[in-house]
Amino acid sequence: MSLLKELQQLQNTARVELAEVRTGDDLEAWRIRYIGSKGAVKDAMDRLKQLPKEEKPAAGKAANLLKKALQTTYDARLGEVSTTKSAGPAIDVTLPGEKPRIGHLHVITQTVNDICEIFGRMGFVVATGPEVEDEHHNFEALNIPASHPARDPLDNFYIDDTTMLRSQTSTVQIRYMESHEPPVRIISPGRVYRPDTVDATHYFMFNQVEGLYVDQGVTMADLKTTVDQFCKAYFGSDVNTRFRPSFFPFTEPSAEVDLEFHNEDGSTYWVELGGCGMVDPNVLEAVGYDNEKYTGFAFGLGIERMVMRKYNIPDIRLLFESDTRFLHQF
Ligand code: FA5
Repeated sequence: MSLLKELQQLQNTARVELAEVRTGDDLEAWRIRYIGSKGAVKDAMDRLKQLPKEEKPAAGKAANLLKKALQTTYDARLGEVSTTKSAGPAIDVTLPGEKPRIGHLHVITQTVNDICEIFGRMGFVVATGPEVEDEHHNFEALNIPASHPARDPLDNFYIDDTTMLRSQTSTVQIRYMESHEPPVRIISPGRVYRPDTVDATHYFMFNQVEGLYVDQGVTMADLKTTVDQFCKAYFGSDVNTRFRPSFFPFTEPSAEVDLEFHNEDGSTYWVELGGCGMVDPNVLEAVGYDNEKYTGFAFGLGIERMVMRKYNIPDIRLLFESDTRFLHQF
């Protein structure tokens, strides 16, 4: 092939390849290959010397024109490619960033932490107990005899004849008193299980926080003040609570605490927050405490109900559906 033809072909391939170049690295490789000091154009120019004398002027001129032409197209591409130096789409660094979604504690866990903090300030320490319990701690030691309707297998999650998922955190009262001498001042948050019919305020697994204070001279006034102060610290000083007489086998007298909820139209209604009362002397005696010397109060409050009141959540089921659109709000 004549050198003139070779130069023509070189120009064509070089232009096609240059058009396909997308990155700065590729462009530099192209420059070295064609117009670099050891590139194809330089090689063609070196070979001019070997041509017969009469062919030299035309071929020399063509080689110079090729060199110039390739240099010009290279310079134009350099401007374009340098703005997209790295592979991939151009990035506008001035656009506002998108915040990455970071996980956080579930609203119930956050609430448990808040509860522990508030009661901690009142001198209560946190105690825990197992979720898989024996009947003794869930019932007998709490003055709930075998004949009591609360022990009906249909109302509890039994695992075998004597083992069950605990139905209340009151089990921890017993476990703690069995291993500690008075005075005791504990709270115990945790999950409990009951085959209740699920509705807007009931679930089959929920959280309670138990409280127990046993010492000399503890009275019902201490109980009311403690629960009321907690509610004011957690919900705000304008929250309304009320105590209704009630019955629990392990407290005497017993009461239920209600929390006032607000409808959108400004009207209000009461939702039961928990049970409470003065620890029954039989319970103190069963754990070996001197019930002549010591008195105590206990309470068990529903944590989901607190969360619902604080964040205005209309249905307990929302808390357990793991819908991140809902959970990310807290
Ligand atoms: C008890 O569980 C007693 N152990 C409370 C207690 C402790 C009384 C210490 C005296 C001394 P009760 O069954 O009422 O009580 O449950 C207490 C609270 O748990 C209720 O007021 C409610 O807030 C919550 N609760 C009960 N059942 C459910 C449920 N299915 N779903 C969600 N929360 C519930």
